[in-house]
Amino acid sequence: MTVRQRTFSGIKPTGVAHLGNYLGAMKRWVDEQDLHENIYCVVDLHGMTEPFDPATFLEERRRLFATLLAVGLDPARCILFVQSHVPEHAELCWVLNCVTPIGWLQRMTQFKDKSLRQRDREMISAGLLDYPVLMAADILLYDARLVPVGDDQKQHVELTRDIAMRFNRLFGETFVIPEPVIQEAGARIMGLDDPTKKMSKSDDASNRSIFLTDDPDVIRRKVMRAATDSGREVCLDETRPGIHNLVTIYHLVTQESIADIERRYEGQGYGTFKRDLGDAIVAQLEPIQRRFREFEGDPAMLDREMRRGAERAREVAGPVMERVRRVTGLA
Ligand code: TYM
Repeated sequence: MTVRQRTFSGIKPTGVAHLGNYLGAMKRWVDEQDLHENIYCVVDLHGMTEPFDPATFLEERRRLFATLLAVGLDPARCILFVQSHVPEHAELCWVLNCVTPIGWLQRMTQFKDKSLRQRDREMISAGLLDYPVLMAADILLYDARLVPVGDDQKQHVELTRDIAMRFNRLFGETFVIPEPVIQEAGARIMGLDDPTKKMSKSDDASNRSIFLTDDPDVIRRKVMRAATDSGREVCLDETRPGIHNLVTIYHLVTQESIADIERRYEGQGYGTFKRDLGDAIVAQLEPIQRRFREFEGDPAMLDREMRRGAERAREVAGPVMERVRRVTGLA
């Protein structure tokens, strides 16, 4: 008998979710919905760490919530909620801030990358530096053991472990020590225009990423134009990052084994393969897009599910926060 373990993961509501988010995270959350005790979160507070537009922020959050329902997360089988609806996240983040050395945060790759991208260095927010501490609070607040993420979040989950262990040393056993769960294929879906950069939500990514809301024609066009080398062989070859990425996507979307894919396209060149891949992605996203449109048009249902999700999340988070208040002498 497998023991059901508590699982926590999150996704930011800024920008539109893309195929990397779907294959690296969401799809697995759905596939493993009955395997563990799962808690999933739309992390809107994380979305504020870089410049954001208050006029569209609420809408983006709602849209992502609808997307998560559309890909197949079922509130009857998991807890799905919005981070800011559970105030314990910000409270625990503060407590953890006070035991986290700044040096640990300054070493984070994502902080270094994101702050380099910001034109005015003086304006890099404290929130951006603190991002991983809030993430640690998200995870530790639910006694989560497993944290399924893409490769880019591994360092943050490892930092969460360090923070939890330091806290436990200082105040006594309080937190479960979590671990990152990173799948082999799909941990890092790369950009279609440039397979050395990961698929991402950023503005310059329109040809880099397939967004979950892209029209079928746009999806097919992006796949046909995807950067590949001058070879012809469809295979999973690390030294040819373009075709490696496309074969990985094909494998994840169709669930076909790599060996079967390689055999099927032997001697056929990239053209046929890309056409079929475009069709496969369209076929996978079509029902998701249909459900998304339906859910997006029902804001009352979305608000109701968000409220319910937050109530259930607080039932778990409340006692853990109470434990933290007790051991730190806050209560
Ligand atoms: P976010 O919103 O950037 O991404 C959500 C999930 O998608 C994964 N991902 C990818 N996987 C494969 N290939 C890609 N190109 C790709 N791009 C993104 C991410 O690894 C992630 O799993 N900090 C997190 C959100 C977060 C969180 C948490 C996650 C906040 N608190 C607690 C886990 C636990 C983030 O920015 O995800």
